[in-house]
Amino acid sequence: MKSMDAEQGASPYRVWPAEPASFSTRRMSPLRHNINEHPLFQLSALQALAHELMPAGQCRFQRPGATQGSAFVHEPKHPQGLSIDEVFARMEEPGSWLALYNVETIPRYQAALDRIIDDLRPVIEPEQPGIFLVTGFIFISAPPSVTPFHIDRENNFWLQLRGRKTMNVWDCADREVIPAPGVEGFIAGGVQTPYQESFRARSSEFNTGPGDGVYFPSTSPHMTRTDTSWVKPGDGISISLGVNFYTSVTRRTAQVHQFNRILRRMGMSPSYPGQSAAMDSLKAPLGHWIAAARYRRLGAKAPPGAY
Ligand SMILES: [Fe+2]
Repeated sequence: MKSMDAEQGASPYRVWPAEPASFSTRRMSPLRHNINEHPLFQLSALQALAHELMPAGQCRFQRPGATQGSAFVHEPKHPQGLSIDEVFARMEEPGSWLALYNVETIPRYQAALDRIIDDLRPVIEPEQPGIFLVTGFIFISAPPSVTPFHIDRENNFWLQLRGRKTMNVWDCADREVIPAPGVEGFIAGGVQTPYQESFRARSSEFNTGPGDGVYFPSTSPHMTRTDTSWVKPGDGISISLGVNFYTSVTRRTAQVHQFNRILRRMGMSPSYPGQSAAMDSLKAPLGHWIAAARYRRLGAKAPPGAY
């Protein structure tokens, strides 16, 4: 693929590993960035974006009272019926929470996200070639607020843009937090493993402000919280951006999970993806075939990268 930098010059808005020597796409890692200075990620630009996303249900609202242990439930309408402009006017009110989903459906945001990932190709592609479907999720909130514990299918360059937020991330290989059947249940059926407070001590905690971020691979459990300690008049909104992407590795791993789920239902204890390259080579095409057949039978659209 032709480099966008070659066409447009180097982007002034970039993300880079905070510890370049040890960065790997296989494990969580702190980041630095200046995406907080990007015009498209300022609050007024996000308000315009929210208007564009609202009709398609891509503005997501959380009911008051969510905790990190709540199910990660969000709805396409404000719980008290506020309009987008009212939501933004009252964003500094404690507990406000708005997420903008799949912002890449708006072309100017797709271009900005692709640019970010394009810059990062040299640190991604040696380990994970075949990048596809770069997506963006923006979380705007006022403390105290949370994003509950969950896992995702994609790799994530998670960036704090404004205000402060505490991000807890667990190693994607920690089977004491989410045992293999839990990961398979999510990949094949979208079912999340419930949070237990005993998990917290096994996480890495990142206390982030503008310019900080965390990379974490597909199926790394994570959750966030913001508290009121940093809030000052006129500075009480926390904004973060997840730049997510799939690769040939995330897809193949998902295929192996799809097949492992079947083996487990037959009473076997299959090796986890990555434990045996030979077994993965056998399982991946079968997992692809089984999942494709299941979604056809259900008449359901598969989530991206699910098999
Ligand atoms: Fe997430």
